[in-house]
Amino acid sequence: MTGRLARKSALITGAARGIGKAFAEAYVREGASVAIGDINLEAAEKAAAEIGANAYAVRLDVTDLDSIGAAVRAVEARAGGLDILVNNAALFDLQPIVEIDKASYDRLFAVNVAGTLFTLQAAARSMIARGRGGKIINMASQAGRRGEGLVAVYCATKAAVISLTQSAGLALIKHRINVNAIAPGVVDGEHWNDVDALFAKYENRPLGEKKRLVGAGVPYGRMGRAEDLTGMAVFLASDEAEYIVAQTYNVDGGQWMS
Ligand SMILES: NC(=O)c1ccc[n+]([C@@H]2O[C@H](COP(=O)([O-])OP(=O)(O)OC[C@H]3O[C@@H](n4cnc5c(N)ncnc54)[C@H](O)[C@@H]3O)[C@@H](O)[C@H]2O)c1
Repeated sequence: MTGRLARKSALITGAARGIGKAFAEAYVREGASVAIGDINLEAAEKAAAEIGANAYAVRLDVTDLDSIGAAVRAVEARAGGLDILVNNAALFDLQPIVEIDKASYDRLFAVNVAGTLFTLQAAARSMIARGRGGKIINMASQAGRRGEGLVAVYCATKAAVISLTQSAGLALIKHRINVNAIAPGVVDGEHWNDVDALFAKYENRPLGEKKRLVGAGVPYGRMGRAEDLTGMAVFLASDEAEYIVAQTYNVDGGQWMS
Protein backbone atom coordinates (compact mmCIF):
# COMPACT_ATOMS: atom_id res chain seq x y z
CA MET A 1 0.00 0.00 0.00
CA THR A 2 1.28 3.44 -0.96
CA GLY A 3 -1.54 5.44 0.59
CA ARG A 4 -2.48 7.44 -2.50
CA LEU A 5 -6.10 7.46 -1.30
CA ALA A 6 -5.40 7.71 2.44
CA ARG A 7 -8.30 9.21 4.42
CA LYS A 8 -10.53 9.27 1.31
CA SER A 9 -14.08 7.95 1.32
CA ALA A 10 -15.33 6.24 -1.83
CA LEU A 11 -18.62 4.86 -3.11
CA ILE A 12 -18.41 2.36 -5.97
CA THR A 13 -21.69 1.32 -7.58
CA GLY A 14 -22.13 -2.26 -8.76
CA ALA A 15 -19.04 -3.29 -6.82
CA ALA A 16 -20.25 -6.67 -5.57
CA ARG A 17 -18.34 -8.40 -8.38
CA GLY A 18 -16.19 -7.86 -11.45
CA ILE A 19 -14.44 -4.59 -12.20
CA GLY A 20 -16.12 -2.65 -9.38
CA LYS A 21 -14.97 -5.21 -6.82
CA ALA A 22 -11.39 -5.02 -8.13
CA PHE A 23 -11.56 -1.22 -7.83
CA ALA A 24 -12.80 -1.54 -4.23
CA GLU A 25 -9.86 -3.81 -3.38
CA ALA A 26 -7.40 -1.39 -4.98
CA TYR A 27 -8.90 1.65 -3.22
CA VAL A 28 -8.74 -0.09 0.15
CA ARG A 29 -5.11 -1.06 -0.55
CA GLU A 30 -4.42 2.64 -1.21
CA GLY A 31 -5.91 3.63 2.15
CA ALA A 32 -9.51 4.56 1.30
CA SER A 33 -12.69 3.54 3.04
CA VAL A 34 -14.98 2.04 0.39
CA ALA A 35 -18.73 1.56 0.20
CA ILE A 36 -19.66 -1.40 -2.00
CA GLY A 37 -22.99 -0.14 -3.40
CA ASP A 38 -24.96 -2.84 -5.18
CA ILE A 39 -28.51 -3.93 -5.88
CA ASN A 40 -27.41 -7.40 -4.73
CA LEU A 41 -26.86 -6.65 -1.04
CA GLU A 42 -25.90 -10.20 -0.13
CA ALA A 43 -23.13 -10.26 -2.77
CA ALA A 44 -22.02 -6.77 -1.68
CA GLU A 45 -21.74 -7.95 1.94
CA LYS A 46 -19.72 -10.98 0.86
CA ALA A 47 -17.40 -8.80 -1.25
CA ALA A 48 -16.93 -6.33 1.63
CA ALA A 49 -16.13 -9.17 4.05
CA GLU A 50 -13.52 -10.52 1.62
CA ILE A 51 -11.90 -7.11 1.12
CA GLY A 52 -11.63 -6.28 4.81
CA ALA A 53 -12.56 -3.79 7.50
CA ASN A 54 -12.27 -0.69 5.30
CA ALA A 55 -14.91 -1.97 2.89
CA TYR A 56 -18.61 -2.02 3.76
CA ALA A 57 -21.77 -2.90 1.87
CA VAL A 58 -24.53 -0.43 1.06
CA ARG A 59 -27.82 -1.37 -0.56
CA LEU A 60 -28.12 0.64 -3.77
CA ASP A 61 -30.41 0.54 -6.78
CA VAL A 62 -29.13 3.23 -9.13
CA THR A 63 -32.53 3.39 -10.88
CA ASP A 64 -34.21 4.57 -7.66
CA LEU A 65 -33.61 8.17 -6.51
CA ASP A 66 -34.53 7.34 -2.90
CA SER A 67 -32.07 4.47 -2.86
CA ILE A 68 -29.32 6.69 -4.29
CA GLY A 69 -30.03 9.36 -1.64
CA ALA A 70 -30.01 6.79 1.15
CA ALA A 71 -26.70 5.32 -0.06
CA VAL A 72 -24.99 8.70 -0.16
CA ARG A 73 -26.32 9.50 3.34
CA ALA A 74 -25.06 6.12 4.58
CA VAL A 75 -21.57 6.96 3.28
CA GLU A 76 -21.68 10.43 4.87
CA ALA A 77 -22.75 8.91 8.20
CA ARG A 78 -20.11 6.20 8.16
CA ALA A 79 -17.12 8.12 6.73
CA GLY A 80 -17.92 11.79 7.38
CA GLY A 81 -18.40 12.59 3.69
CA LEU A 82 -17.85 11.40 0.15
CA ASP A 83 -14.60 12.10 -1.75
CA ILE A 84 -14.80 9.61 -4.64
CA LEU A 85 -17.70 8.16 -6.64
CA VAL A 86 -17.23 5.44 -9.24
CA ASN A 87 -20.32 5.00 -11.43
CA ASN A 88 -19.68 1.38 -12.34
CA ALA A 89 -23.08 -0.40 -12.19
CA ALA A 90 -24.36 -1.29 -15.66
CA LEU A 91 -26.36 -3.85 -17.58
CA PHE A 92 -25.58 -5.40 -20.96
CA ASP A 93 -27.93 -6.80 -23.58
CA LEU A 94 -27.66 -7.74 -27.20
CA GLN A 95 -30.38 -8.04 -29.84
CA PRO A 96 -30.58 -7.59 -33.62
CA ILE A 97 -31.79 -4.07 -34.37
CA VAL A 98 -35.10 -5.31 -35.79
CA GLU A 99 -35.79 -7.30 -32.61
CA ILE A 100 -34.85 -4.80 -29.88
CA ASP A 101 -37.63 -4.74 -27.33
CA LYS A 102 -38.65 -1.63 -25.43
CA ALA A 103 -38.29 -3.29 -22.01
CA SER A 104 -34.61 -4.06 -22.64
CA TYR A 105 -34.04 -0.54 -23.99
CA ASP A 106 -35.71 1.02 -20.92
CA ARG A 107 -33.78 -1.20 -18.47
CA LEU A 108 -30.38 -0.43 -20.00
CA PHE A 109 -30.97 3.30 -20.22
CA ALA A 110 -32.38 3.34 -16.66
CA VAL A 111 -29.29 1.70 -15.15
CA ASN A 112 -26.45 2.79 -17.46
CA VAL A 113 -27.50 6.37 -18.24
CA ALA A 114 -30.07 7.62 -15.69
CA GLY A 115 -28.31 5.64 -12.96
CA THR A 116 -24.98 7.25 -13.82
CA LEU A 117 -26.44 10.76 -14.05
CA PHE A 118 -28.51 10.72 -10.86
CA THR A 119 -25.87 9.00 -8.75
CA LEU A 120 -23.38 11.57 -10.03
CA GLN A 121 -25.86 14.32 -9.17
CA ALA A 122 -26.39 13.08 -5.60
CA ALA A 123 -22.65 12.68 -5.07
CA ALA A 124 -21.92 16.12 -6.51
CA ARG A 125 -24.51 17.73 -4.22
CA SER A 126 -22.88 16.07 -1.22
CA MET A 127 -19.38 17.09 -2.35
CA ILE A 128 -20.43 20.70 -3.05
CA ALA A 129 -22.10 21.01 0.37
CA ARG A 130 -18.93 19.76 2.06
CA GLY A 131 -16.73 22.14 0.03
CA ARG A 132 -13.71 19.84 -0.39
CA GLY A 133 -14.12 18.95 -4.08
CA GLY A 134 -14.05 15.34 -5.17
CA LYS A 135 -13.44 12.82 -7.91
CA ILE A 136 -16.13 11.15 -10.02
CA ILE A 137 -15.23 8.33 -12.40
CA ASN A 138 -17.79 6.97 -14.85
CA MET A 139 -17.40 3.57 -16.48
CA ALA A 140 -17.80 4.00 -20.22
CA SER A 141 -16.68 1.37 -22.75
CA GLN A 142 -15.12 0.94 -26.16
CA ALA A 143 -18.78 0.27 -27.02
CA GLY A 144 -19.37 3.99 -26.50
CA ARG A 145 -16.79 4.89 -29.16
CA ARG A 146 -18.61 3.23 -32.08
CA GLY A 147 -21.75 1.21 -32.73
CA GLU A 148 -21.94 -2.55 -33.19
CA GLY A 149 -24.54 -4.30 -35.31
CA LEU A 150 -25.93 -6.47 -32.51
CA VAL A 151 -25.25 -4.14 -29.60
CA ALA A 152 -27.09 -0.92 -30.51
CA VAL A 153 -28.63 -0.10 -27.14
CA TYR A 154 -25.64 -0.85 -24.90
CA CYS A 155 -23.36 1.10 -27.28
CA ALA A 156 -25.77 4.06 -27.18
CA THR A 157 -25.82 4.00 -23.35
CA LYS A 158 -22.03 4.07 -23.20
CA ALA A 159 -21.82 6.90 -25.77
CA ALA A 160 -24.22 8.75 -23.46
CA VAL A 161 -21.91 8.08 -20.50
CA ILE A 162 -18.99 9.65 -22.42
CA SER A 163 -21.15 12.69 -23.22
CA LEU A 164 -22.41 13.03 -19.63
CA THR A 165 -18.80 12.85 -18.44
CA GLN A 166 -17.93 15.80 -20.67
CA SER A 167 -20.90 17.94 -19.57
CA ALA A 168 -20.61 17.13 -15.87
CA GLY A 169 -16.84 17.55 -16.02
CA LEU A 170 -17.21 21.04 -17.40
CA ALA A 171 -20.04 21.96 -15.00
CA LEU A 172 -18.44 20.72 -11.79
CA ILE A 173 -14.77 21.63 -12.07
CA LYS A 174 -15.52 25.05 -10.55
CA HIS A 175 -16.35 23.10 -7.36
CA ARG A 176 -13.04 21.24 -7.75
CA ILE A 177 -14.92 18.07 -8.61
CA ASN A 178 -13.10 16.22 -11.41
CA VAL A 179 -15.38 14.08 -13.57
CA ASN A 180 -13.64 11.64 -15.91
CA ALA A 181 -14.34 8.22 -17.40
CA ILE A 182 -12.60 4.95 -18.17
CA ALA A 183 -13.41 3.08 -21.40
CA PRO A 184 -12.39 -0.59 -21.05
CA GLY A 185 -12.25 -2.92 -24.02
CA VAL A 186 -13.16 -6.54 -23.29
CA VAL A 187 -12.65 -7.57 -19.68
CA ASP A 188 -12.95 -11.23 -18.68
CA GLY A 189 -15.22 -12.16 -15.79
CA GLU A 190 -18.78 -13.26 -15.01
CA HIS A 191 -20.14 -10.40 -17.13
CA TRP A 192 -18.34 -11.61 -20.27
CA ASN A 193 -19.58 -15.17 -19.73
CA ASP A 194 -23.10 -13.74 -20.09
CA VAL A 195 -22.05 -11.70 -23.14
CA ASP A 196 -20.48 -14.79 -24.72
CA ALA A 197 -23.72 -16.75 -24.22
CA LEU A 198 -25.70 -13.98 -25.96
CA PHE A 199 -23.31 -13.92 -28.93
CA ALA A 200 -23.48 -17.74 -29.07
CA LYS A 201 -27.26 -17.45 -29.42
CA TYR A 202 -27.41 -14.67 -32.00
CA GLU A 203 -24.31 -15.58 -34.05
CA ASN A 204 -24.96 -19.32 -33.80
CA ARG A 205 -21.58 -20.13 -32.23
CA PRO A 206 -20.49 -22.67 -29.63
CA LEU A 207 -20.14 -21.28 -26.11
CA GLY A 208 -16.71 -19.77 -25.49
CA GLU A 209 -15.89 -19.14 -29.16
CA LYS A 210 -16.72 -15.43 -29.15
CA LYS A 211 -14.61 -14.90 -26.06
CA ARG A 212 -11.64 -16.61 -27.68
CA LEU A 213 -12.03 -14.55 -30.85
CA VAL A 214 -12.32 -11.19 -29.11
CA GLY A 215 -9.34 -12.01 -26.88
CA ALA A 216 -7.21 -12.95 -29.90
CA GLY A 217 -8.28 -9.71 -31.61
CA VAL A 218 -6.96 -7.42 -28.88
CA PRO A 219 -3.62 -5.85 -29.97
CA TYR A 220 -2.13 -6.69 -26.56
CA GLY A 221 -2.92 -10.36 -27.26
CA ARG A 222 -5.54 -11.23 -24.66
CA MET A 223 -8.75 -10.04 -23.02
CA GLY A 224 -8.38 -7.54 -20.21
CA ARG A 225 -8.58 -8.44 -16.55
CA ALA A 226 -10.22 -6.23 -13.94
CA GLU A 227 -6.76 -5.68 -12.44
CA ASP A 228 -5.60 -4.10 -15.72
CA LEU A 229 -7.94 -1.18 -15.00
CA THR A 230 -7.16 -0.51 -11.35
CA GLY A 231 -4.10 1.68 -12.04
CA MET A 232 -6.20 4.17 -14.00
CA ALA A 233 -9.02 3.98 -11.45
CA VAL A 234 -6.66 4.79 -8.56
CA PHE A 235 -4.92 7.55 -10.51
CA LEU A 236 -8.18 9.30 -11.51
CA ALA A 237 -9.37 9.13 -7.89
CA SER A 238 -6.13 10.55 -6.52
CA ASP A 239 -4.86 14.10 -6.03
CA GLU A 240 -2.50 13.51 -8.98
CA ALA A 241 -5.48 13.80 -11.35
CA GLU A 242 -6.43 17.29 -10.13
CA TYR A 243 -5.96 18.99 -13.54
CA ILE A 244 -7.74 16.28 -15.57
CA VAL A 245 -11.25 17.34 -16.53
CA ALA A 246 -14.04 15.70 -18.58
CA GLN A 247 -11.83 13.05 -20.25
CA THR A 248 -12.51 9.43 -21.17
CA TYR A 249 -9.45 7.18 -21.07
CA ASN A 250 -9.23 3.97 -23.08
CA VAL A 251 -7.72 1.12 -21.06
CA ASP A 252 -8.19 -1.65 -23.57
CA GLY A 253 -4.93 -3.24 -24.71
CA GLY A 254 -4.83 -1.09 -27.83
CA GLN A 255 -8.34 -1.65 -29.14
CA TRP A 256 -9.31 1.94 -29.68
CA MET A 257 -7.36 5.13 -30.35
CA SER A 258 -8.84 8.50 -29.49
N1 LIG B 1 -16.53 -6.50 -18.61
C1 LIG B 1 -16.29 -5.83 -19.75
O1 LIG B 1 -15.83 -6.40 -20.75
C2 LIG B 1 -16.55 -4.35 -19.82
C3 LIG B 1 -16.11 -3.67 -20.95
C4 LIG B 1 -16.35 -2.30 -21.06
C5 LIG B 1 -17.02 -1.65 -20.04
N2 LIG B 1 -17.44 -2.33 -18.96
C6 LIG B 1 -18.15 -1.58 -17.92
O2 LIG B 1 -17.49 -1.73 -16.68
C7 LIG B 1 -18.45 -1.74 -15.62
C8 LIG B 1 -18.34 -3.00 -14.80
O3 LIG B 1 -18.44 -4.12 -15.65
P1 LIG B 1 -18.41 -5.62 -15.08
O4 LIG B 1 -18.04 -6.49 -16.21
O5 LIG B 1 -17.63 -5.69 -13.82
O6 LIG B 1 -19.99 -5.81 -14.75
P2 LIG B 1 -20.73 -6.95 -13.89
O7 LIG B 1 -21.97 -7.30 -14.65
O8 LIG B 1 -19.79 -8.05 -13.53
O9 LIG B 1 -21.13 -6.19 -12.54
C9 LIG B 1 -22.15 -5.24 -12.51
C10 LIG B 1 -22.62 -5.06 -11.07
O10 LIG B 1 -23.66 -4.06 -11.10
C11 LIG B 1 -24.70 -4.46 -10.22
N3 LIG B 1 -25.95 -3.80 -10.61
C12 LIG B 1 -26.76 -4.12 -11.65
N4 LIG B 1 -27.83 -3.31 -11.65
C13 LIG B 1 -27.69 -2.45 -10.61
C14 LIG B 1 -28.47 -1.38 -10.09
N5 LIG B 1 -29.65 -1.06 -10.64
N6 LIG B 1 -28.02 -0.71 -9.01
C15 LIG B 1 -26.84 -1.07 -8.41
N7 LIG B 1 -26.07 -2.08 -8.85
C16 LIG B 1 -26.50 -2.77 -9.94
C17 LIG B 1 -24.74 -5.98 -10.36
O11 LIG B 1 -25.39 -6.58 -9.24
C18 LIG B 1 -23.25 -6.32 -10.46
O12 LIG B 1 -22.68 -6.55 -9.18
C19 LIG B 1 -19.81 -1.57 -16.31
O13 LIG B 1 -20.14 -0.20 -16.35
C20 LIG B 1 -19.55 -2.09 -17.70
O14 LIG B 1 -20.46 -1.57 -18.66
C21 LIG B 1 -17.23 -3.67 -18.82
